[in-house]
Amino acid sequence: MSRTRTSLLAALALVAGASGAALGTQPASAAADAVPCTVDYKVQNQWDTGFTAAVTVTNNAAAKSGWSVKWSFAGNQKVTSGWSAKLSQSGTAVTAANESYNGTLASGGSVSFGFQGTYSGTNAVPATFTLDGVTCNVDSGGGDNGGGGDNGGGGDNGGGGAGRVDNPYSGAKVYVNPQWSALAAAEPGGSRVANQPTFVWLDRIAAINGVDGKMGLRAHLDEALKQKGSGELVVQLVIYDLPGRDCAALASNGELGPTEIDKYKTQYIDAIAAILADAKYAGLRISTLIEPDSLPNLVTNAGGTNTTTDACVTMKANGNYEKGVSYALDKLGAIPNVYNYIDAGHHGWLGWDTNLGPTAQEFYKVATTNGASLSDVAGFIVNTANYSPTKEPYFKVSDSVNGQTVRQSKWVDWNQYVDEQSYAQGLRDKLIASGFSSGIGMLIDTSRNGWGGSARPTGPGPLTSVDNYVNGSRIDRRIHVGNWCNQSGAGLGERPTAAPAAGIDAYVWAKPPGESDGASSAIDNDEGKGFDRMCDPTYGGNARNGNNPSGALPNSPLAGHWFSAQFQQLMQNAYPPLS
Ligand code: GLC
Repeated sequence: MSRTRTSLLAALALVAGASGAALGTQPASAAADAVPCTVDYKVQNQWDTGFTAAVTVTNNAAAKSGWSVKWSFAGNQKVTSGWSAKLSQSGTAVTAANESYNGTLASGGSVSFGFQGTYSGTNAVPATFTLDGVTCNVDSGGGDNGGGGDNGGGGDNGGGGAGRVDNPYSGAKVYVNPQWSALAAAEPGGSRVANQPTFVWLDRIAAINGVDGKMGLRAHLDEALKQKGSGELVVQLVIYDLPGRDCAALASNGELGPTEIDKYKTQYIDAIAAILADAKYAGLRISTLIEPDSLPNLVTNAGGTNTTTDACVTMKANGNYEKGVSYALDKLGAIPNVYNYIDAGHHGWLGWDTNLGPTAQEFYKVATTNGASLSDVAGFIVNTANYSPTKEPYFKVSDSVNGQTVRQSKWVDWNQYVDEQSYAQGLRDKLIASGFSSGIGMLIDTSRNGWGGSARPTGPGPLTSVDNYVNGSRIDRRIHVGNWCNQSGAGLGERPTAAPAAGIDAYVWAKPPGESDGASSAIDNDEGKGFDRMCDPTYGGNARNGNNPSGALPNSPLAGHWFSAQFQQLMQNAYPPLS
């Protein structure tokens, strides 16, 4: 097999569709309720010439349909940019007015916004704030509010209450989404897994407040505070609403058109950042999975390969995936208890050398431009919503048969990796060599990569040829490693685990088991989702899966919708098996 064929095939395997100290609560004392409003102003990050601040205003007066918060800086602070409010400054006087989407402020309700600014000398916290002209008390952590914030009003919180820890999953529980848990528990046998933590997918703007009966972000975070108790807890969120989403497939196309980057920034990322920055949630460790499939699609499907799509060419040319991811890293990374993990495809997509180098370059570019910086990146996640095994127990990429490397087999097809753990560790090394911090950690989505059940090999395959050996050995029973939709025969993988191996922060369940990857036939919907024939079991495939059958289960619902038959199969083929 020539090098040319190698690099051509390298691009074939495409996957898509995804696939501190706790701050006290707001004072509830009679004294606090007697004031018309409270303001919590917190300097989140501070460096020699600049800072970011998060402001939460609680309205104790009558409900409002618009609001304006004002203060004066004591020093030479200047607001340079902000989010979730319209910020303006004249001399030392600053006004923060609501955006169109967060003007409503209930009686007893809170709203949060933030900004970045410059300063020199002392960066003191403003002494007085007003809400619509009425003076608020400052939630200063002093006085009658002694049980309140650990941020005290003292401006320099340098990295937040607890500061970021190296691996947020270490020593922490992980949030169980009660709504996924209920769906799992309602399935026969489902109670065996219903207490597992899964990610919450913020897959459209409306998901932030809650849509279709699903809990919104604040509802999840409030529930997370309850689950947390006095220990540490990680809440896991998928950030998934880029303009022109899912450019190489159709099943998970989203609500925003290719050019709607401003809407993505202001109505999606800023709105999420405002909630995450609420002081109430400062004691949670928030793990964000940044935009599944997006940057990998720019690497392999945006030009010069037989897997190129027009939609990915468009997204590469207009730069909106890159701008969106940089913006998300920057804004979410400014919140001290947020840990950003960027999606890094899986080994059967990016594991060829010809793809891995460009992937590392792409990640570096996005993490160092448009306001993002390397310190905004906690790590990367591999195998999101995919089916590649964590470990192939019965063969390694370095094996040979009769003097021939297994890389020559049809299945491996010259890839440098045969499983996700080796890929995650190899990619991590490469990213550190490219300039990322040696503190980055990797996550692996093990929700559906168990491949147990009766079809699972129990030992290595016959040494009669590389193909026989690999096909007999591999636990991944897919028809082709490029298949990604509702794979027949798959099982639940390793249960979520902290720090399972060197360089790996955790095994996580990013794709909630039981939620479909896409519909097996066209279904009308208002979610922007298309019909991708890779979800149709009768489809014979395309260049992206070597023209093989899709291997998808029949009768599947829209992406993200509950698919009972798949959940049952995942439990049946779980590995480790369910007891
Ligand atoms: C798919 C869907 C998305 C859903 C997610 C999790 O990516 O497009 O809407 O939230 O899967 O199941």
